[in-house]
Amino acid sequence: MSRVLHRTLTSAPPVAVRAKGMHIHLQDGTTILDGSGGAAVSCLGHAHPRVVEALSKQAATHAYAATTFFTSEPAEALADLLLEGEPGGLTHAYFVSSGSEGTEAALKLARQYFLEIGQPGRTKFIARRQGYHGNTLGALSAGGNMMRRAPYGPLLSDAFSLVSPCFAYRFRKESETDEAYVRRLADELETEFQRLGPQNVIAFCAETVVGATSGCVTALPGYFPAMRAVCDRHGALLILDEVMCGMGRTGTLHAWEQEGVTPDIQVIAKGLGGGYQPIGGILIAGRVIEALRSGSGSFMHGHTYQAHPVACAAALAVQKVIREDGLLANVVAMGERLEAGLQERFGNHRHVGDIRGRGLFRALEFVADRSTRESFDPALKVHDRVKEAALSRGLAIYPMGGTIDGRRGDHVIVSPAYIAGPGDIDAIIDRLGAAVDAALPP
Ligand SMILES: Cc1ncc(COP(=O)(O)O)c(C=O)c1O
Repeated sequence: MSRVLHRTLTSAPPVAVRAKGMHIHLQDGTTILDGSGGAAVSCLGHAHPRVVEALSKQAATHAYAATTFFTSEPAEALADLLLEGEPGGLTHAYFVSSGSEGTEAALKLARQYFLEIGQPGRTKFIARRQGYHGNTLGALSAGGNMMRRAPYGPLLSDAFSLVSPCFAYRFRKESETDEAYVRRLADELETEFQRLGPQNVIAFCAETVVGATSGCVTALPGYFPAMRAVCDRHGALLILDEVMCGMGRTGTLHAWEQEGVTPDIQVIAKGLGGGYQPIGGILIAGRVIEALRSGSGSFMHGHTYQAHPVACAAALAVQKVIREDGLLANVVAMGERLEAGLQERFGNHRHVGDIRGRGLFRALEFVADRSTRESFDPALKVHDRVKEAALSRGLAIYPMGGTIDGRRGDHVIVSPAYIAGPGDIDAIIDRLGAAVDAALPP
């Protein structure tokens, strides 16, 4: 009997003992092709020699620097690399140990920004349904993953309210053009600002590409500029959560590069350290930093393990490999191959309603009926069935239910490492095809 409290008490997951490149080896001798890097984490695959060397060296040289006293070379170098050229006006980085901690830091910094500039009345955040920003109570309050929120509803903060996501497959009306749908969403955000009192709103928070909650949902062209315009009109900040979709996953280092907007605060995590160490962070616009600099002079927040040197050394090595090996180009090329392969294999599958995503961040949404887009009975746990069928064929993919509203809908995410080659992509599609056919006979 395992004494670890696993995600389920009904069974213990298989024990992973070793991993290299695109493969994970289990204690029972099975080898699994890693088709999702966990939840889009392992962006360089496993045991990348340059990353392993960098983090081992840092652990041996100087494992921990208490940030109340010291900074460290890897933390400084990582911030310098990420902010080289001040992308989108982002000038500073703050490193923590997870995506949820990143969200907490973003929320607190946004609130502090308005204290610094003399607008203490701003106390409200607007976020979106069917998005996710983390599992700590603040981040969960900002999230719209109804399944994860439900048990903790009474503990969540009423500083947060939720508007609709931009999710065309599910929520654009049949008669509506893309432009009209975007306009409707911008009007909804404006109405929410008015309901709260525009002078009370701190920020609008959104995942640039929605990750696990709805399955790689990209916004329609013009959506983010329209949302940014509403924020700008009322002097509120834009917080983009790129924990899952950022750091190259969609083919550009930042997913917002493909959206025509820049955030005031950006949350990063999974692809930052690629799973080699727990690390997340926020990237911060110069104007936010300037407000702190000319105000209190410090960020009123902190964690024992912030900017951890070994974590920063691992992330620095990951980010260097992405740049030095030209991996963004591979994400684009392999992303196209993945998309084409998924379309070919599932484009006519009676139970695949939508194939979506960008770069090496793709999802299949399953439906009981393609013409009505009716989802399966949630009790069937179709997403789990596909996951299990894939695992038994030696493929790991990331499943989730509640795609539509936290209860209805099923999808799986395919998000292999940026080092994936054509053979890996083809093997993922082959095994996923067999798994879907087994779980959902055509
Ligand atoms: C978009 C997004 N934000 C935040 C988080 C929270 O990150 P973590 O699980 O590292 O706390 C996640 C994790 O899945 C995520 O996908």
